[in-house]
Amino acid sequence: MNIICPVCKEKLTKEDKSYKCINRHSFDISKEGYVNLFLRKSENSGDEKDMIHARTLFLNTGSYDFLRKELNSIIESYNTIDFVDLACGEGYYTRYFNAPNKVGIDLSKSGLKTASKADKDTDYILSSIFDTPLQSESVDTVLTCFAPVAKEEIVRILKDKGHFILVHPNIRHLSELRSAVYDTPYDNEVEPIEIPGLKLVKEYSIDSKGTLNNEQLIALFKMTPYYHTTSDKDKEKLNSINELSVTFDFIISIYEK
Ligand SMILES: C[S@@+](CC[C@H](N)C(=O)[O-])C[C@H]1O[C@@H](n2cnc3c(N)ncnc32)[C@H](O)[C@@H]1O
Repeated sequence: MNIICPVCKEKLTKEDKSYKCINRHSFDISKEGYVNLFLRKSENSGDEKDMIHARTLFLNTGSYDFLRKELNSIIESYNTIDFVDLACGEGYYTRYFNAPNKVGIDLSKSGLKTASKADKDTDYILSSIFDTPLQSESVDTVLTCFAPVAKEEIVRILKDKGHFILVHPNIRHLSELRSAVYDTPYDNEVEPIEIPGLKLVKEYSIDSKGTLNNEQLIALFKMTPYYHTTSDKDKEKLNSINELSVTFDFIISIYEK
């Protein structure tokens, strides 16, 4: 799996503390260990520091460990050599997986700082997943977890017969949290995602339950897409909850090229 130059698309080679291509484009590796290959700086829209902090606090509870174990067993079952986590965030999943060559890509500097400090076995890259700096047909397995799906790029970078693993929240995911916040809670909508060029070969759900204290619950709520659309009045309802048992419910979809 080759990382390619965002300027000329030639192969990048790691040399000491930077990546260089034959056309002498050079990209420094940050002190934490990630490389910034994102050229359109003003468009950076990755997750901010407080969001990453909330996610790290919640993920440290171990509530999603069952999910990353399941994902690792899928990745191992495909004898993955070259693996990419598209929108890897702070690398909570990426660092756990057993694959010889791992790349994690995200637009969030805060996320990649955390990821690359904790994990020296993965190449972490700041880039948009919609313009992935990886050679075409060079990846065995791609993962996207709770993030936008860069359909065309996934098809481009996958080898023939390579796999794409997609994780989405299922209907009952965090239902108790929604009931605690909203007067009329709704179920998550789950819609099948078609990816031209890939065939859906397997789809199933996995779930678990966990009990969270107030700080963990608020951190979890901050991770959700509905945090930004919820009124302050509804958000405040969480402040009075000391402990809540919450359902974690995911759909795993596996596609093959
Ligand atoms: C909900 S988080 C999920 C992170 C990680 N997959 C996880 O499950 O812990 C979504 C991530 O997508 C990243 N993201 C959103 N749009 C992106 C883009 N166009 N390119 C790269 N990363 C992007 C955000 O920065 C954020 O880290």
